[in-house]
Order: sequence, then structure tokens, then C-alpha cells
Amino acid sequence: MNTPIRDFVLDYNEKNAVRLHMPGHKGKDFLGFEKYDITEIDGADVLYSAEGIIKESEENASSLFGSFRTFYSCEGSSLCIKAMLAIVASQRRDKNKKAKILAARNVHKAFIYGCALCDIDVEWMYPSVSSHLCTCVITPDELDRKLSQLSEDVDGVYITSPDYHGQTSDVRALSEVCERYSVPLLVDNAHGAYLGFLEKSLHPINNGAYMCCDSAHKTLPVLTGGAYLHLSEKAMDSVSYVENMMALMGSTSPSYLILQSLDMCNKYLSEGYKERLAATVKRIGKLKYELADCGAVIEDSEPLKLVLNLSASGVYVDTVLSALGEYAIVPEFYDNGHMVFMFTPENTESDYTVLSEALSSVNYGSYTDAESFVYDYETVDRGLTIRDAVFSSKETVCVKNSEGRICASPAITCPPAVPPIVSGEIISRNAIDCMLYYGIDKIEVVK
Ligand SMILES: Cc1ncc(COP(=O)(O)O)c(C=O)c1O
Repeated sequence: MNTPIRDFVLDYNEKNAVRLHMPGHKGKDFLGFEKYDITEIDGADVLYSAEGIIKESEENASSLFGSFRTFYSCEGSSLCIKAMLAIVASQRRDKNKKAKILAARNVHKAFIYGCALCDIDVEWMYPSVSSHLCTCVITPDELDRKLSQLSEDVDGVYITSPDYHGQTSDVRALSEVCERYSVPLLVDNAHGAYLGFLEKSLHPINNGAYMCCDSAHKTLPVLTGGAYLHLSEKAMDSVSYVENMMALMGSTSPSYLILQSLDMCNKYLSEGYKERLAATVKRIGKLKYELADCGAVIEDSEPLKLVLNLSASGVYVDTVLSALGEYAIVPEFYDNGHMVFMFTPENTESDYTVLSEALSSVNYGSYTDAESFVYDYETVDRGLTIRDAVFSSKETVCVKNSEGRICASPAITCPPAVPPIVSGEIISRNAIDCMLYYGIDKIEVVK
């Protein structure tokens, strides 16, 4: 597959041009890659009104992912989430009312900020069984029940799949429900860019989603910030909104390093990636098996994550961290209950062997009282809309004294960036316990 953006930048470098344009480093080495860091000069196309090399590269991505259209983002899925929300708000059924979205509660905070910017009301869906703050899997029947009560009122359904713990929803079945009610299904697929390259695609855009975002940088060899906004054929009418809405929320100075990285990723994906991914999934499966043999409890998850359930394994997080420290192994995420490791085909065999050695050295089952925190999702009362709360005058208070106050800014550590209490909601005891568990001791509340 060709790489028009990368080729353009290489040609430009060949010319040894006198750079009397931005950026200010003029291609000189400071970090070492500045010569490849250009701006939207003649021939380099313009992100968000692409007609040349960027469009050609996005078309390559679209053909690989099987989307109707794919757009690049240099500002992560965060930008794509805000753009998806802005598109839904612009296309709302009743222009005399605010847009409303029915969303599974484990949203990333970009969703909250997007709702604030677009003045969208949210109706939350909660899981029937509580587990972790990051997880809120909604079944097709639950969605059907909700839509049968609300569908007239709802402009879109929004889910996060996979979530930070690798839990996935049945996107195909949920999209069928949405179609019955003529409501678009939007998917935060930030963690699942690779899913379309599994033997049977689990990517939302191949399974009935209307639109979705992928953080290419999370699971593919793309620089941090590189992401896709994919539209399915059903979203044909939304195409004309996308570039405007991305421009509304994004910078006018896209990183050409990230664009080249997304461009090169097309070539990478078209040259044996499926086979390399299959081998990686197999290798992770072997590792999970070895660890389970030592007494570790590994949760079911999407294939590129390994999720160690610390509490069920009877180990403290500090014990595992110190075993990992011996081998300089850095996990993606941990709290007292779980630890998440992420793999790609770029991991080497020795990565698996050292992780296996480190985790096998731990004495599982040594504690019966290892701490776990089940986040009991609950319906909380709302004092203000998300927008009014985010744009209110605020004060910072101690979380332990915040019961009954209205949350102004979503407070959460990143990762996982899933807020236990959302702007506009009245802070409950349960939310306080969750924030304290995550080490959050201050929160901005409405004055
Ligand atoms: C579930 C989820 N959605 C969205 C995002 C935002 O993605 P990005 O960092 O690409 O902006 C993240 C980031 O961690 C995430 O975990």
C-alpha cells in the first residue's frame, strides 16, 4: 500500500528547501526528528478539508478498516468523541430541543466535555451487575427496554467497547436494536483499533456501528495522538459534517509526524499484520494459561489485554508491583483490585518470558483479605445540566466533605479517566468512597 504523506515529506527533505515557514525549529535537530515535522505547506494538503495526500491516505485507511469514510485525528480519540457528539447534536431530530444521548455510564471524560461543549443532555444506562468503575456492559435486552421508553427523545446511543479492562459489548446485537428504533449507535472503540484484523472482525464499524473512534496509538504502531474517526455507510449523511466538527474542536496545526505515522500504519497493516496479530493473540493465550497454572486469576478480556484480578488471586498490588520492578516491567494500569497489561505484535518473545517469570514468582492466595472495590453504579440526582455545571463558577473542596454538593468538573485519575461522578450530579457517599479509593481528595464543585 502506498504512503503519500510520508513520501511527500521525504521528497521535501530531499530538496533541502529554505524553510521560511512554520515550525520555528526550521528542520534543525533538537529532539532529532524535526526535519520530518512540517506544516500545511503547498502540496501537503489540509487536514479537515483534505483533497490531496491526506485524503488519499485516509482512503487507504478506509479500505483497510472497511469503513465508508475514515478521517484522521492528531488529537486522539478525545477529539473524535467530541466531533461525534457535535455531529449528533447538529443532526438532532427536534431542532427546538437540546440533543439527548443514551449512554452507558463508563464514559471517558472526553465524552463529558463534549456534552458540555455541545450542550447535550445524557440519559445514563447502568449495568445490571456492578463490577468496576471502568465496566458497564449493556445487554441488547436492556437497551431495547430503554429505547422502548425513550426512543422518541433520543438522538444517539453511545457505548464504550472495549473498556479499560478489556470488556466488550455485543456491538452487532446492540446495533440491531438501535436500527429498530432508527437511532445511531456511536462507539468509543479507543482501545480496539486492531479488532478488524482478527480472524473474525470484532471492529464496531464492521458490526453495525454508525460511527466510532479508534485510538490508533493505543494498539497499533502509531505515535501518541494518532486516531481515526470511522463512518459506516449508514452515516453517509453525516460525512459533510465531519470535517467542520473536527475543525470546530481541533487545532489548525496538525502534527505531520502523527499524520506520517498514521500513513505508514496503512502499509504496516496491509503487509502481514493479520498473521502477526493472530500469532500474538496465541502467545498471549499461552501466557494466560501459564499464569493460571500458578494460581493467578486472569479475567476474560479482549485478546490484546491481560487483566490480572488481584483480589481474586489473593495478592496485594504492591507485591505484584515489586515483582514487576525486579524486571523493569511497566503495566498499563493498576488499582488495588486489578492490573492491566497491553500487548501488540511489537512485543518480543522476551517480553512474554520475563512477564511470565515475574508473575510466576508471586505467591498467589497468600492473602484472603486483598482489597477490591466494586463500584456500585447508582442513579444519582442531577442538580444542573452538564454544560451549566462545567461552565459554572466553582470552588475546590475536600472530597470527604463534598456530599450533597454539585460536581462541576469530572474528577478522576488518568488512566482510567472514567469519572465516578459527572458534572451536574449531586455528589453521593458512594461516589466519595470511589474517589477516595482512587486517591482523589479534592473536587471542584459548583459555588
Ligand atoms: C475508553 C477511552 N476512550 C477515549 C480515550 C481517549 O483517547 P485518546 O487518548 O486517544 O484521546 C481513552 C484514553 O485513554 C480511553 O481509555
